[in-house]
Amino acid sequence: MTVFLVGAGPGDPGLLTVRGLELVRSCDALVYDVLVAPELVEEAPDDAILISRESVRQEELNELLVELGRTGLDVVRLKGGDPFVFGRGGEEVEALAEAGVPWEVVPGVSAMSAVPASAGIPVTHRGVSAQVTLVSGHSASGEDLDFAQLASAPGTLVVFMGLAHLSAIAAGLIAAGKDRHTPAAVVSRGTLADGQSVRGELWDVARLAADLASPALLVVGDVVALAYASESVSTRAGFARS
Ligand SMILES: C[S@@+](CC[C@H](N)C(=O)[O-])C[C@H]1O[C@@H](n2cnc3c(N)ncnc32)[C@H](O)[C@@H]1O
Repeated sequence: MTVFLVGAGPGDPGLLTVRGLELVRSCDALVYDVLVAPELVEEAPDDAILISRESVRQEELNELLVELGRTGLDVVRLKGGDPFVFGRGGEEVEALAEAGVPWEVVPGVSAMSAVPASAGIPVTHRGVSAQVTLVSGHSASGEDLDFAQLASAPGTLVVFMGLAHLSAIAAGLIAAGKDRHTPAAVVSRGTLADGQSVRGELWDVARLAADLASPALLVVGDVVALAYASESVSTRAGFARS
């Protein structure tokens, strides 16, 4: 009857919300992202229709959700992190609303704070950072990033989808006036058992992160220097840090 856009959290299956898990366990159809933990897909009923989103274009996916919704099934669209943070959840909602299909969003734990936290980094800290700026680094050409604005923004900068462009992003920020010695970290596969992170300064963070795997987040700001011991940070299966 309804298409539920459910946030699956950043990787660790334990970070799906209780409401999200209830919906997965009772759905008729599950359409899931590649980054969603396989354990969560296994929670769907045995007779549920399972559809991986892999290699389906966004426009086709919107149509698929509308079609499934129109059949009267309960559909869970399980998305990485939070559906409304760089998740194109808004586009899916627009398509559903336009088609008159009932929908509901179930927020998820976003990588924006959970992934830095998995490496011991708080994105805000009293007296250190009272502002967080989230950007997509998908294209470092300046299309996505206004380096002048970002370089002068106080607080913490969190860059999604920037792993392939780390050098260009760091260089762009420094050229726009950001202190090259600003603490910076890249956290790869945060909250997952094989997660890794590196910490350094803005000028050399791309080199330090050269071997890290996707998905990864870049965190820039003085909070990175706090980085509490990872042993004290809850992750399902431990967290390797260099
Ligand atoms: C398309 S965005 C989706 C973000 C998601 N909606 C959220 O709220 O976390 C995917 C990007 O999120 C970041 N990301 C997601 N999960 C991550 C993880 N476990 N570790 C590091 N970065 C992650 C990466 O920058 C990745 O390229």
